[in-house]
Amino acid sequence: MKSLLTMEQLSKKELFEILDIATEMKAETKADKKNTKNLEGMTLGMIFQKSSTRTRVSFEVGMQQLGGYPLFLSGNDLQLGRGESIKDTARVFGRYLDGIMIRTFKQSDVEELAEYSGLPIINGLTDYCHPCQVLADLLTIKEHKGGFDGLKACYIGDGNNMANSLLVGCLLAGMSFSIATPEAYKPCEHIMQVGESYGDKFSWTTDIFEAAKDADVIFTDVWASMGQEGEAEIRRKAFAGYCIDEKLLAVANEGCMVQHCLPAHKGDEITEDVFEAHADEIFDEAENRLHAQKAVLWLCMHK
Ligand code: CP
Ligand code: NVA
Repeated sequence: MKSLLTMEQLSKKELFEILDIATEMKAETKADKKNTKNLEGMTLGMIFQKSSTRTRVSFEVGMQQLGGYPLFLSGNDLQLGRGESIKDTARVFGRYLDGIMIRTFKQSDVEELAEYSGLPIINGLTDYCHPCQVLADLLTIKEHKGGFDGLKACYIGDGNNMANSLLVGCLLAGMSFSIATPEAYKPCEHIMQVGESYGDKFSWTTDIFEAAKDADVIFTDVWASMGQEGEAEIRRKAFAGYCIDEKLLAVANEGCMVQHCLPAHKGDEITEDVFEAHADEIFDEAENRLHAQKAVLWLCMHK
């Protein structure tokens, strides 16, 4: 693996390799051992053109645990913020760094960075997808459920970056996947086609109860993502009722997990009670960002 740009690029074999390495690295770290697989002497540039809590800290700590150096680069402080092109920035960074993690708006900027830097590029979220988060989510399900076969995953809410990557990742892992969104907020056409290629393992509906029926894990995300703040009120109306609450969980399977990539807007997409009842799973998911990303960093950057 040279870069992680989307979930769609991964084969099932690559996905399971990432999860296996993440499990191995997590066990070493929990035992206070140095990671056997490391990136000593390597520098990761971390470009952020949007806010972050988990992505920034988990990449920074992860790179440090692997023996490398994480360099935080705020989009506003770089000349990128004053109009320097991605293409030129990429060609400069290609001379200094060993890899780049980028969080930005346009997926095409991530692809361009990969093309012109010649470096391994890791997508830390775009408007289109959030593959690092979904790898952490799958690692959490693997730990809590012991595997993926025969499980049903469900997503309730906006057909956004998280929905796009979850749809691809959950189906690739071997689970079935049902998604409930308002008609106007479905995942993009290309992603819907990926879902449809799995036949009856995939379904889309506007009915949250239909989607959540017999689910083993239910995901949700905010109604308005970063960059959509101006649409918050319109979205609040469109998503009214798209909420994980006790009533919804009652139609899911016994022991159904709840996952949220965070940050959460409690009272909107999830009730405070459900959030707190499933807090251990949700914060395991947040922790697993660190372990899943270390596996990705190593696979992309080691020589
Ligand atoms: N889930 C996630 O990506 O969190 P941050 O926006 O805090 O990085
Ligand atoms: N869909 C959210 C995910 C945040 C991790 C956003 O893009 O803001």
